[in-house]
Amino acid sequence: MGELRHWRLEHDAQDLAWLWLDAQNPVNILSSEVLQELGQAITLFDAKPPKGLVLGSAKPSGFCAGADVKEFAKITSRDQALTLVHQAHATFRRLAELPFPTVARIHGYCLGGGLELALACRYRVALDDAKTRLGLPEILLGIHPGFGGSVRLIRTIGVLKGFELMLSGNSLDAQTALRYGLLDYAVPERHLDRACRHLITTQPPLQRPAWWLRLLNFAPIRPLLAAYLRRQVQKRARPEHYPAPYALIALWQRFGAQEGMFLAEAESVAELLLSETAQNLVRVFFLRERLKGFGRSEAAFHHVHIIGAGTMGGDIAAWCSAHGLKASVQDLSPKHVAPAVKRAYQLFSRTFKRRHEETAARDRFIPDVKGVQLSRAEVVIEAIVEDLKAKQVLYRQIEPRLRADALLATNTSSLPLEELAQALERPERLVGLHFFNPVAKMPLVEVVQGKFSDPKTVEKACAFVRAIDKLPLPVKSAPGFLVNRVLMPYLMEAMLLLEEQIPQEAIDRAAAEFGMPMGPIRLADTVGLDVCLAVAEILTQKLGGEVPKRLRDKVTTGKLGVKSGEGFYRYRGGKPIVRKRVVSPLSQELIQDRLILRLVNECVAALREKIVEDTDLVDAALILGAGFAPFRGGPMHYLKQRGLEAARKRLEELEQAYGSRFRLDVGWAKLKY
Ligand code: NAI
Repeated sequence: MGELRHWRLEHDAQDLAWLWLDAQNPVNILSSEVLQELGQAITLFDAKPPKGLVLGSAKPSGFCAGADVKEFAKITSRDQALTLVHQAHATFRRLAELPFPTVARIHGYCLGGGLELALACRYRVALDDAKTRLGLPEILLGIHPGFGGSVRLIRTIGVLKGFELMLSGNSLDAQTALRYGLLDYAVPERHLDRACRHLITTQPPLQRPAWWLRLLNFAPIRPLLAAYLRRQVQKRARPEHYPAPYALIALWQRFGAQEGMFLAEAESVAELLLSETAQNLVRVFFLRERLKGFGRSEAAFHHVHIIGAGTMGGDIAAWCSAHGLKASVQDLSPKHVAPAVKRAYQLFSRTFKRRHEETAARDRFIPDVKGVQLSRAEVVIEAIVEDLKAKQVLYRQIEPRLRADALLATNTSSLPLEELAQALERPERLVGLHFFNPVAKMPLVEVVQGKFSDPKTVEKACAFVRAIDKLPLPVKSAPGFLVNRVLMPYLMEAMLLLEEQIPQEAIDRAAAEFGMPMGPIRLADTVGLDVCLAVAEILTQKLGGEVPKRLRDKVTTGKLGVKSGEGFYRYRGGKPIVRKRVVSPLSQELIQDRLILRLVNECVAALREKIVEDTDLVDAALILGAGFAPFRGGPMHYLKQRGLEAARKRLEELEQAYGSRFRLDVGWAKLKY
């Protein structure tokens, strides 16, 4: 039997075995090698069973982050997928059937395959601190738990809570996990080992849901509950785009949480692993990892000062405070800061379960109308009105007061950095940090490098973005940067369709059926039609084209979208009034092509201009900054899958029918697909 490279086995004086996972990897993941060694370690117990086994992690960062996603990406056949999944199933079964008590000793992340491993132990104890997270996020990768976890989870915490966890992909903190019955104990560090020993010595009954919850697994009840669960999922994901949640519900409907579900789970997940959706979502996972790589730097951040407490500035400040930074917020008067304080407190109460953490975040959020904190901050973000002169006046006032090493960033969406920097003595210190609206929901931040920006400052800006747990994308300073530039033709096309009397519901439905989270008309209403108009005007000035009359008319008449109660839609309680039955004279496919191919054509133009380095970064930007259908892997990946020739031909047809706005960008000649 070979040496264990990823695990360390110890025995103590009370005849307990302690098996520590310490994978040859920065984080603990369950690669096939790690799983195989777990099997080896379990075999060691055959000869001399200990009194009990504690399974923990030797890494301070956490217990186990799950299966090895890199291995998923290499799978090309069902047999390969099944081999991988069966190996895990067999090993976890052996663990679950050990004749002595087993305890998972959890701290930090315990996700996906990691939680499935913990569920294969009889008992679970977790460290009760802010870093502990337990969850099954497989659904976000287009699959479902596949190492027996779906069966064991339902058996442990019941169908309702089990599906809640698996269908959302959300993770729980230790206290919530304890309440759900997922844990036996949630304890402070000093009691962790003692709690594990106590469970082994006393062997209390296993965690099980209440009897009435167990009844839900009975055959006559299952179809009803499954139909309810499907209806819930349908609100968020279509089966043709995201098959995994539907497959999981079907599995349970067929088997309850009985033995047969183990094998069926393995087969179902093997199938899903090969689906286009899973392959594309795994691709998105790696795109995210790539963006994280832009923020690797030693710089530490403690204090950010934000000028402009409006929609963006206020929410950026709140987000920074929630992520551990002191955030001082400056505006023209207390009246301007007050709404930001209110929204910040709402964010803190949503984010933090523990009172002291919420209070600490409030303490870090400092209204600072006079800007007394300005000279102390390492990062200063300007988010005042979109007006070149106003921003330049402000820069002249603040520059002499900035720390020598302070990073100065603007959140402008359309003003050229080079023009803004003219007001500075040291223009090299200015970069763009373009956050997206709503700040708390959009993971991407474009880090804009102006002609004068110092590359070191850009690097530092990327590190700052990571420090607040967002994803940085370095972009060249150019009109609309990347995301708005590419999104604008898509929105403008939607408005031209409106001018052709196509019902807005039909336009939005076509986009939703393509996989966009929200149709373009509703998106414009949500962003604000005044904001759309301002960006459209700047972009058309620089890049050509025309601003649709419908958009101008709406803004002139004060119909600005959700915020004014009416835009293209009318809103009641923040919800649009949507007509159910509308007939469109154009086919859905034509509407989709007009919207999406204009967007794709603009991506090609942006690539030609080297706004970002490569096609993968365009995909990352549009998925994470604009919600482009993730299961399609991004607009450039969509183009690849659709076929370059076919898309090119379609654009030529559209140009014939609708004019030069569909003309192929010259960048197509250089595309390498
Ligand atoms: P907003 O109008 O909601 O807020 C601007 C705030 O700046 C106001 O509270 C105003 O009182 C304050 N202000 C104006 N002059 C000031 C000065 N000299 N000193 C201190 N405070 C001053 O605007 P919003 O939407 O937050 O936009 C701010 C910036 O963010 C703009 O550059 C905009 O282009 C950009 N942006 C906006 C997005 C959006 O969706 N609203 C998205 C991304 C960027």
